[in-house]
Amino acid sequence: MRIAVVGGTGSFGSALAKRLVDAGYEVVIGSRDETRAAETGAEVGAEGATNADACEGADLVVIATKAEATLATVDELVSAIGETPVLSVAAELQFGPTGVVPTVEATSIASRIQERVRGPVIAGLHSLAARNLGGDEGPEEDVLVCGDDLAAKTLVLELAERITAGRAIDCGPLASARALEGLTAVIVNVNKRYKAHAGVRLSGIP
Ligand SMILES: NC(=O)c1ccc[n+]([C@@H]2O[C@H](COP(=O)([O-])OP(=O)(O)OC[C@H]3O[C@@H](n4cnc5c(N)ncnc54)[C@H](OP(=O)(O)O)[C@@H]3O)[C@@H](O)[C@H]2O)c1
Repeated sequence: MRIAVVGGTGSFGSALAKRLVDAGYEVVIGSRDETRAAETGAEVGAEGATNADACEGADLVVIATKAEATLATVDELVSAIGETPVLSVAAELQFGPTGVVPTVEATSIASRIQERVRGPVIAGLHSLAARNLGGDEGPEEDVLVCGDDLAAKTLVLELAERITAGRAIDCGPLASARALEGLTAVIVNVNKRYKAHAGVRLSGIP
């Protein structure tokens, strides 16, 4: 399976790409700059291309640009993405005096991507910190995934299962993305309070 990581030159995209390559996936790093894509690709064992070229022929497109650039990037890539399933990992945060809070939009970034593209959008992996993706086994964390399209969600759950030592958990419809994106703010506040690198593990699942 061929996975395009748009914005894959960043800390999360490159760490995810490395794990995916190690798990046996064919990965292409996308960037606004072809040279930067090739350099990061060489570092992680993947190809490199412009964001649009990376999307062509991919079985899954991961949008891993910095969160604030997600929707504008998707707008530029609508035709290159076509009907290919999209994985949204973005969580938009506001940094204030009381801590980190989710932004106030009524719908998730993932839902707003779904309004733009023809293929199914899946949201997930938000609680996996880039720095926890290193190491041989992957983090001892669960990966939370949601989406409305069963085939696309299954594809992402299988991928998630292979990059973590924890479990890939189906969290229901795409409407759950608002909560998954908001959870990032909780984790950032926990990390700050306890000087930690927290992840998520759900209990009570057989
Ligand atoms: N960092 C984490 O631990 C973590 C964990 C889970 C989820 N996430 C999510 O993963 C995504 C990436 O996070 P990150 O920390 O890796 O971000 P980042 O390093 O700040 O940025 C990732 C890439 O975005 C591209 N980019 C920057 N500005 C852009 C713009 N104006 N338009 C288009 N592309 C632009 C850049 O690629 P080029 O310059 O090469 O085009 C950059 O390398 C975010 O949505 C974040 O919420 C992050």
